[in-house]
Amino acid sequence: MANIIEITNLTKKYGSFTAVDNINFQVREGEVFGILGPNGAGKTTTLEMIEGLKGITSGTAMLDGKDVAREAHAVKSIIGVQLQASSFFEGLNLLELIETFAALYDREVDAMALLKMVQLEEKAKSEVKELSGGQKQRLSIAVALVNDPKVLFLDEPTTGLDPQARRNLWDLVQTINKQGKTIVITTHYMDEAEVLCDRIAVMDHAHIVAMDQTQELLKMPGLNSTIVFKTHDNIQAAHLESLPGVAEVRQDASEYTMVTLNPQETLTALFIKANEVGFKVLDLQLRQPTLEDVFLKLTGHALRD
Ligand SMILES: Nc1ncnc2c1ncn2[C@@H]1O[C@H](COP(=O)(O)OP(=O)(O)O)[C@@H](O)[C@H]1O
Ligand SMILES: [Mg+2]
Repeated sequence: MANIIEITNLTKKYGSFTAVDNINFQVREGEVFGILGPNGAGKTTTLEMIEGLKGITSGTAMLDGKDVAREAHAVKSIIGVQLQASSFFEGLNLLELIETFAALYDREVDAMALLKMVQLEEKAKSEVKELSGGQKQRLSIAVALVNDPKVLFLDEPTTGLDPQARRNLWDLVQTINKQGKTIVITTHYMDEAEVLCDRIAVMDHAHIVAMDQTQELLKMPGLNSTIVFKTHDNIQAAHLESLPGVAEVRQDASEYTMVTLNPQETLTALFIKANEVGFKVLDLQLRQPTLEDVFLKLTGHALRD
C-alpha cells in the first residue's frame, strides 16, 4: 500500500521547550494509525501540525504527496478534522448544521445519510445542546466527513465518554475505515489502541519510542503473560516454580500468580502437576501482555498516572 502521510523530522518548539522532537513516521493508505501516549506527550501538537492548524518549526509533513506547509489549501480538501462539538453554531438543528458545513466546503451532501451513518438520524431536528457526550462526538465525526476526505484525524475521540458510548464510537471508526478512509487517531487508552489500530506509534515526552503493527508491539521481548488461579488445596510454591516456562510465582492466600514465558507449556504442565499432586485448579485466568505493559517496558513509567 502507498503511503498517504509521510512525516520527516517533524519538530515543534515553543520557545526553548520542544513539544515534538524530530519524529518520523508514515501512514499507509487505508490503515488505522494510532498515536498512543500519556497527556503531554505531544500527540495533539503532532496532529495539528499535520492538519495545517499549527506552524511547523522544522521538518516536513506530506499528505497525499502534498507539502502541508506549502499547499495548505490542497491538503484541507483531502482531510477531515474532528472539531470540538461545543464550537458549533447555535440555533441550527443537526441537518442544517451539516448542510452549513458542506456549503463551506462547496459540497453537496446527503446530510440525512451522514446522520444515519453516525446513528443520529432520530436527532436530525435537534440542536447540539440536546445531545449527549457520545452523540456530540459522533456528530463531530459526521461533520468531519462532509468533504468526503481521504484521511480522517481523530484526537482522543472517546475521552470522557462512558463505556457504552466508547464502544459505539469504536464501531463507527471501524465502519468508516471499512469504507476505505485512512484514519489517524490519538489516544491514551491502550485498550482503544489495541482494538482499533493496525499500527501504533508510541509517543512519550515529544518522542516516538516505538512504532509497529499492534500485534508485533505486543510480542516485544521481555513481556510476559501471567496465569492466575485459586485452589483450596495445600500446595507448595516449589511445585509451581518447577513448571516449564515459569519465571516467577506469587501467592496471596488461596490465589497463585505465575509469570510465564510460555503460557501453553505452563498451563499443560500445571494440570499434569495438579493431577499428580492432587490439587484442584479453580478460577483460572490467562492474562496476555497489553499495550500498557509495552509502554511500561519502553518508558519505565505507566501510561496513565
Ligand atoms: N501553545 C503552547 N505553548 C506552550 N506549550 C504548549 C502549547 N501547546 C502545547 N504545549 C505543551 O506541549 C506539550 C505537548 O502537548 P500536546 O501536544 O497537547 O500533548 P498531548 O496531546 O499528547 O496531551 C505539553 O507539555 C504542552 O504543555
Ligand atoms: Mg492532546
